[in-house]
Amino acid sequence: MNDSTLFRIVYDSVCVLPGGHASELQLQDILEVARRFNLESRITGALRCDRVYFLQVLEGPRGPVVSTMARIQRDGRHTRVNIIEAAPLARRDFADWSMALVPDHSATMARLTNPDLLDFRPATGAQAANALRAMLASHRA
Ligand SMILES: Cc1cc2nc3c(=O)[nH]c(=O)nc-3n(C[C@H](O)[C@H](O)[C@H](O)COP(=O)(O)O)c2cc1C
Repeated sequence: MNDSTLFRIVYDSVCVLPGGHASELQLQDILEVARRFNLESRITGALRCDRVYFLQVLEGPRGPVVSTMARIQRDGRHTRVNIIEAAPLARRDFADWSMALVPDHSATMARLTNPDLLDFRPATGAQAANALRAMLASHRA
């Protein structure tokens, strides 16, 4: 495995933004910077914030993904960063997004069919990626 091997890191964390959860404006702030860095580093992925938890998938060349994760881990806007997966990946799940936002209201829609998605905390990277893709699709529909 070298630095350009396609790699995925998935984590969840607890949001510590004022008010206990991220506002639309705070999320836009995070995303603006994230997308700029990610475009430069060929990183793609998705970020969800539902009430207290962030859930993020980062995919791309191993070196940049690992160093981006190190920056994110030091970010004071969240805490209890819990790495769910850090492993090589065969194919990107979010190739079209420098960082897709899976907004709260799509989570709300998903909850209508699956109440377990409230405070959803996946056990594996694949489970996280599949759920985020499904939520994105339901948001677009
Ligand atoms: C929940 C969350 C997700 C983030 N996602 C990314 C990301 O995908 N890419 C990125 O470069 N920065 C992301 N950031 C921002 C980084 O933590 C960091 O602020 C940014 O990369 C700039 O680096 P610097 O603070 O060391 O200047 C995220 C921050 C938070 C709180």
